[in-house]
Amino acid sequence: MGNNSLGNILKVTSFGESHGAAVGCIIEGMPAGLTINIAAMQEAVNLRKTNQSAFASARNEEDTIEIISGVYENKTLGTPICILIKNTDAKSADYTNIATTYRPNHADYTTHAKYGIRDYRGGGRSSIRITAPLVAAGALALQLIEHIYADVNIQSYVYQIGNASMSEEEKASYFTDNQIFGNEVRCPSAKTTENILTEIATAKNNGDTLGGCIQTTITNLPVGIGEPIFAKLQSALGAAMLSINTVKGFEYGEGFTASTKNGSQHNDEFAISNNTIHTKTNNSGGIQGGISNGMPIIFRTAFKPISSITKAQQTINENGDNIAIEIKGRHDVCAVPRAIPIVNAYTAIVLADLILQNKLSKI
Ligand SMILES: Cc1cc2nc3c(=O)[nH]c(=O)nc-3n(C[C@H](O)[C@H](O)[C@H](O)COP(=O)(O)O)c2cc1C
Repeated sequence: MGNNSLGNILKVTSFGESHGAAVGCIIEGMPAGLTINIAAMQEAVNLRKTNQSAFASARNEEDTIEIISGVYENKTLGTPICILIKNTDAKSADYTNIATTYRPNHADYTTHAKYGIRDYRGGGRSSIRITAPLVAAGALALQLIEHIYADVNIQSYVYQIGNASMSEEEKASYFTDNQIFGNEVRCPSAKTTENILTEIATAKNNGDTLGGCIQTTITNLPVGIGEPIFAKLQSALGAAMLSINTVKGFEYGEGFTASTKNGSQHNDEFAISNNTIHTKTNNSGGIQGGISNGMPIIFRTAFKPISSITKAQQTINENGDNIAIEIKGRHDVCAVPRAIPIVNAYTAIVLADLILQNKLSKI
């Protein structure tokens, strides 16, 4: 399996399977001498944990991070940092009915067709569990970013699940972390949260699942981050977000709507106030020519519904028989709230990598 890494100068390589001994990652390129906050890394990992709401998987993992190399006396050594999280609550017997059967829209068929072998237990390598240590790596990447640019902030929230959505006006507001994490849906609008909970309860009662959307805003990122050809800020962030399981859509600023506008409607006019260059609008989402322009970077990530539904479905097995399947195991009914720490972590890794690359841009 190739390409298990995210980033170039700061490179995070993932390993592990859902029901193996552990999941983990190795971080290369982290500069030496950074004082690290392990508690903040653990806090980020805790936000991704299962079993924290009625619609999350009931798998009950402690998800305690172990840093087994690259850090001495709370400071990075400049050597590879290995983060390990043990798998302690795997119930592999729950998955025997998918050992030789392909779940519709999951990775079972494509993985088996490609490799001829797969660890079906808990989804194996295709499980979102592999992101637990990556979330810790992302929290560390954020600490590096904050060391270089103290005011950079990455904030994500759920604005839509199923048919329940916040309005465009609501989405334009600023939210505090307390508003976002004040409820299990991680949506800062009380009314939309109520509607979302109704949607999720209905889906769950029907043995079904739901997808949704997350909006992310990066503030105080200076001008100049992003490499203009093959590591454009938008392509690097887009590739990272589209690497998260179930992500099927991604857009910046006005996004797809921009394709329906005239240049005169979409262009962000420049202005200067207090000696600072800014744009009057931010339809481009803060990126031009693949480079941050100093305005907030705004993007939206769309997640499809979780494919493991308990409702009966038709599928095939490894022998090519047409069969019915009712999926067992512990699965998320709606995973979008749990995806927020993953989105934030991948964003931080991409930004930290491009911030380090930007240090090579000029003398
Ligand atoms: C936060 C999160 C939690 C997930 N939980 C589950 C789950 O409990 N059960 C499941 O079958 N898929 C779950 N998935 C999705 C699968 O990992 C994913 O559908 C599978 O790897 C196939 O990849 P694809 O959907 O991107 O094609 C989850 C995804 C995310 C982002």
